Amino acid sequence: MDAIYAQGLSRTFGEKKALDGLSLSLPQGSVFGFLGPNGAGKTTTVKLLTGLLTPTEGECSIFGLSPRSDAEKVHALCGVMTESACMYPQLSGLDNLIFFGKLCGMAHALAVERARELLKKLDLSDSEKLPAGKYSTGMAQRLSLARALLGRPKVLFLDEPTSGLDPESAQAVNALISEQAGQEGVTVFLCTHQLRYAQDLCDSYGILDHGFLLAKGDLSHLAKLAGCQSYASFRLVAGEELPGLEQKDGWFRRPLESQEEMPGLLRKVVGEGRCVYEARIETPTLEDVYFSFIGQSEGRTEQ
Ligand SMILES: Nc1ncnc2c1ncn2[C@@H]1O[C@H](COP(=O)(O)OP(=O)(O)OP(=O)(O)O)[C@@H](O)[C@H]1O
Ligand SMILES: [Mg+2]
Repeated sequence: MDAIYAQGLSRTFGEKKALDGLSLSLPQGSVFGFLGPNGAGKTTTVKLLTGLLTPTEGECSIFGLSPRSDAEKVHALCGVMTESACMYPQLSGLDNLIFFGKLCGMAHALAVERARELLKKLDLSDSEKLPAGKYSTGMAQRLSLARALLGRPKVLFLDEPTSGLDPESAQAVNALISEQAGQEGVTVFLCTHQLRYAQDLCDSYGILDHGFLLAKGDLSHLAKLAGCQSYASFRLVAGEELPGLEQKDGWFRRPLESQEEMPGLLRKVVGEGRCVYEARIETPTLEDVYFSFIGQSEGRTEQ
């Protein structure tokens, strides 16, 4: 059974179609990167999948349960970290987590233990007594992730979990996301603008624009769909050139159909007596693929 399923999921606000016919099925344990520009409909999707909003059309389920008719069971399965998490500002970080842990049905001692464990993992132990209202943006964001993880969710919805974080904290949060998926089998639905992190973390992606899912799949599938090429690239000693090859950022490169071509190309370049400092295969990055899809989509909407 799919951990996350959506069929023709749509949501309209007045005249605005925020989400238009989203269909998805994600198996348990997958880490799905949901990408798209501001206003694309990512947060709306998270709200629909977790029952915070009702769809105008279509349906969705979490492990076969409807967020509307089985709201309580769905909430027990899901951890949600949204852009604006609600904490009690006068309560300390620790007390907030204990409160929300008990709200999930944990006994006091267990809630304290789990809260402390998560505060430690997210490097917030030193601030556990500080009122949540006095947390910095990045600290509040980590506290909100801790809250999402309290009940050991089977499905984790993360809406830009690292957007306000410094590089060290972002790394810690990303490690925690990987751990959740790898060791705990948690299914992660990650909305993010940080494509480099997404490429490290996710096994498949959806690219959304103006409420439409432009494409979905793993990176190599998306790269093929987008027509993004791999290249054989060579960096030579200053002054040398490879005639007929495109030059980019000091590298000479030519399109590569398969990596099997590379050894022959390298032998040829060296055989011609050129001084090769570096040779590499450039495969399309998530950033390449993203801009290709979004560029094509912008082109269509401008016509
Ligand atoms: N409650 C609401 N009432 C009216 N319009 C809304 C509401 N919520 C979202 N929208 C609109 O729906 C569209 C999608 O918004 P959404 O927040 O889902 O985008 P997003 O992809 O999460 O963007 P961002 O990257 O900026 O977080 C936007 O045009 C937004 O203005
Ligand atoms: Mg959003």
